[in-house]
Order: sequence, then C-alpha cells, then structure tokens
Amino acid sequence: MIRLENVTKIFGATTAVDNVSMEVPAGSVCVLLGPSGCGKTTTLKTINRLIAPSSGRISIDGKDTAAVDEVTLRRSIGYVIQQTGLFPNKTVEENITIVPDMLGWDRQRSRRRAAELLEMVNLDPGVFLKRYPKELSGGQAQRVGVARALAADPPVLLMDEPFGAIDPINREVIQDEFMKLQARLKKTVVFVSHDIDEAVKMADQIAIFRDGRLIQYAAPDDLLAHPANSFVADFVGSDRTLKRLRLIRVADVMDANPGYVRAEDRLEAAAAKMEEAGHSSIVMVGPQGRARGFVTLEIARSRKGTVGEHYEKLPTVVSPADDLRTAVSTMFARDVSWLACVDEDGFFKGYVTQRGITHALGATYRDG
Ligand SMILES: Nc1ncnc2c1ncn2[C@@H]1O[C@H](COP(=O)(O)OP(=O)(O)OP(=O)(O)O)[C@@H](O)[C@H]1O
Ligand SMILES: [Mg+2]
Repeated sequence: MIRLENVTKIFGATTAVDNVSMEVPAGSVCVLLGPSGCGKTTTLKTINRLIAPSSGRISIDGKDTAAVDEVTLRRSIGYVIQQTGLFPNKTVEENITIVPDMLGWDRQRSRRRAAELLEMVNLDPGVFLKRYPKELSGGQAQRVGVARALAADPPVLLMDEPFGAIDPINREVIQDEFMKLQARLKKTVVFVSHDIDEAVKMADQIAIFRDGRLIQYAAPDDLLAHPANSFVADFVGSDRTLKRLRLIRVADVMDANPGYVRAEDRLEAAAAKMEEAGHSSIVMVGPQGRARGFVTLEIARSRKGTVGEHYEKLPTVVSPADDLRTAVSTMFARDVSWLACVDEDGFFKGYVTQRGITHALGATYRDG
C-alpha cells in the first residue's frame, strides 16, 4: 500500500501539491486526474522521491520512503515518465534492460524479458529490439517506456500519461492489454491521466486534483454518480451518467429469470405468458436452452399454430459479460427496447430492457 500523509510541495511561489493525503491499496490502480498544472506529475514524483516533498510523509508498505536509500527505492518502483524519457543513444532492447542490468540479471534472461515485454505492448521484437528511440513514432516510444517500467517486475508502478501519444484505437488496445496484465500481476499502480474516459476504464480509485489540492477520491462509478462539487461535475462531463454505462455489466441489470417459449408451444400459450409478464415479445429456445428466435404478442394473438411456425430470428443479442454501453448502443442502432442476453455458448440467460437500464442508473441517484 502507498500512503501519502499531508504531502505538500512548494516551488518558489507555486504550491504544486497542497496538503494531499490518500492511500492506494496494494494491487489496485489509482488514477490521478485533473487539468494541466494541477499537480499530478509532482505528486507522482514525490512517491519515488524524484521530488522531495516540502512537508508531509510518504510510505510504501508501511516504510517511510524518506528512510529508504533512493537508488534502492527507485529500483523497486517502475516509472513511465510523461515524455517517455528513453535514452536516445541506446537501442530499445538496451533501454528496456537498464534496470535488470543494474540488478545484475544475466544477459540471456534480460534479453528474453525485453522480447517478451515488447510482445506484450504489441510491438514485434524482431522489428523493434534493435531500433533507436528516434526511429520510433511517439506512440511506439511510449509503449517501449511501459515495457521498460515493467522490466524488473517491480511491485509498484508509476505511470505519467503513458498512453497519451497513442491514437484512440491503439490506445484502447494497449489499455485492454494493460488491464489484462494488471489482473494477473496485481501491481500497485499510480497512473496520471487527464482523460476521464481512460480514468473510468482503468481506475479502481480516481483522485481528482485542482490547484494542487485533492478534491475527491472515489471509485469511478461513485465519482460519476456523486461528484463532490461543481468542479468535479464539470470535469467528468455533463454526460457522466452515460459514462457509467461502461462500468455496469449487462448481467447486473438483466432479468435473469426470463420467461421463454419452445417451438412446439401453441401461440395462445405464448400470448398468455407475455400478458402475464407484461411483455410484448418472448424468446423461443431450442431443446438445450439456446436462444433460437422470438415471437411478438401481436403475432401470438393474431395467428394460429405453434411458436415454431411463426417465430422471427433475433436481430441481435448481447452477452451478460458485455457492458451497458454496448447494450445501449446496440439497442439504439437496432431501434429496439430490449435485447436477449445470450452467453458465449448460445444459451439464453435473460433480457435486458431500456427501462431496466434507466431504472438501475436512476436508483443510485435516489439512494444518494
Ligand atoms: N520544477 C518546478 N519549478 C517550478 N514550478 C514547477 C516545477 N514543476 C512543476 N511546477 C509547477 O507546479 C504546478 C504543477 O505541475 P505538474 O507538472 O505537477 O502539473 P500536472 O498536473 O502534471 O500538469 P500536466 O497535465 O500539464 O502534465 C504547475 O503550476 C507547474 O508550473
Ligand atoms: Mg504532468
């Protein structure tokens, strides 16, 4: 765990960090978020003592960092600096293996590690290991910076806008890769961003800064649902409720005890089921419970015969593991107010409705 207690940093007339106290639990990702100049980088650099605080205390796993030798401290903390900071006269491979070399790893092992880390950040080792930083695009250099910070497998990672120079598509890819890796490695990560969407996606906790002060420290959904003041509300955006859609899974709001019919059921029986549930359509499942199609109340009432003779194909489905953003965007694109939730093996798991979604989101505001 990283703990900051009343940390202040004054540069001449500027109070860059103003009495900040916060805790980052071990294995979690904390995103420092706020406008340019609000003190994110300065706060981050006090953690590995690249900047000594003017006052206050910082400890990692209970140890005061002021009492640890600085070189030892920095070797145990991976650091991705804001402008990548690769050594221009060293190849990508040499850049990545700097800390392992200092730690005395054997050459073979650190080379293997460099290749493995490049793969991880989606750069082909065959192409990039021997390149120099000036032969990289900004986004590629940033990815090498991330690989370098991970090289010696440090328990703590400080990352200063590590994906800022990467285009939106590759940024999503590398964010996803990083999150997968993080789920496995469980590093304690402090991550600077000025991008609310990135913060919502990556963070367990978000720390919002303004003029050096920590304004709110909360989990992403809590921050979006209950911004502490108008500064935070403005910063997270007037579409903050829409942003929450990303944080909630279809499984959390779906009706998981869904009514359904089978091909051999009579239409009258299907109509009765829909009337009882107050639904205007119902899913038809196959013998094992796989979603096969649906029938509407209108058809069930107006025709004769079995469901199997009159069903329509499901225009689209969602997975219970999808987020609500995917579900809502699918509903809007297809002009439908409900979707069948189907797992990866095709089994019918439930319904998600527009009403169910608005209700789930609205409930948190009512409780608050
Ligand atoms: N070495 C320094 N000397 C004097 N002032 C500094 C120094 N470093 C930072 N500052 C000032 O401290 C404040 C916080 O800077 P910091 O770099 O922490 O901001 P930031 O939140 O990381 O901004 P950005 O999003 O632009 O990277 C700014 O007003 C900056 O001008
Ligand atoms: Mg900065």
